[in-house]
Amino acid sequence: MVHIQLIIGSTRDTRFADKPAAWLLERLSAREDLTIEKVDLRDYPLPFYNSPRSPAFTQREYPTEALAAWGRKVDEADGYIFLVAEYNHAYTAALKNALDSIYPELNRKPVAFVGYGGVGAARAVEQLRLVAVEFEMAPLRHAVHILPDVFGPALQSNPIDIAVFAPLEPRLEKLATDLVWWAQALKAGRTATA
Ligand SMILES: Cc1cc2nc3c(=O)[nH]c(=O)nc-3n(C[C@H](O)[C@H](O)[C@H](O)COP(=O)(O)O)c2cc1C
Repeated sequence: MVHIQLIIGSTRDTRFADKPAAWLLERLSAREDLTIEKVDLRDYPLPFYNSPRSPAFTQREYPTEALAAWGRKVDEADGYIFLVAEYNHAYTAALKNALDSIYPELNRKPVAFVGYGGVGAARAVEQLRLVAVEFEMAPLRHAVHILPDVFGPALQSNPIDIAVFAPLEPRLEKLATDLVWWAQALKAGRTATA
């Protein structure tokens, strides 16, 4: 069994993110090969990164309680799904700031992506794959892109009827199966070299 965190990358009050998050949590919690936990950046409000040295060097030295709470939470997972909004062809500043504030907590763990927007956040996801490599993560190929054919109906669905995401379920299954494979493999590797 591997523990996966769903990291919600958008924090704005009127965000769409909660709708796909509800679908993902419902579907993934039905699987027996993983445990899923929602990790909402709203619950980890961090100042703009302001440390004299990178967390890659300072490792788990947390100068504030807020950073300690974020770092310790991320440390608990064997793998991640980043739920990605696209703002001006990139991922959110909130997500970048949260990532820059930590480092070893993410090392040698896989990350998969679910994006939404005009192009399913494809541009933001591609950028995140590059960033993930710098965090010594394994960014995965299988992704879910919520394109306008599903994004539009989901925007209109209030409260959300998660059935609108049904066309994406085969892709989600593929993503989850692959993520579990990598999470198990890298967990074994981390344990062997601990
Ligand atoms: C500042 C801003 C920039 C945006 N830029 C893009 C963009 O580059 N590409 C895109 O597909 N959608 C873009 N959108 C539309 C978002 O995809 C849409 O608002 C989505 O709901 C944002 O996610 P959120 O509601 O969870 O924050 C942008 C929205 C905002 C607020």
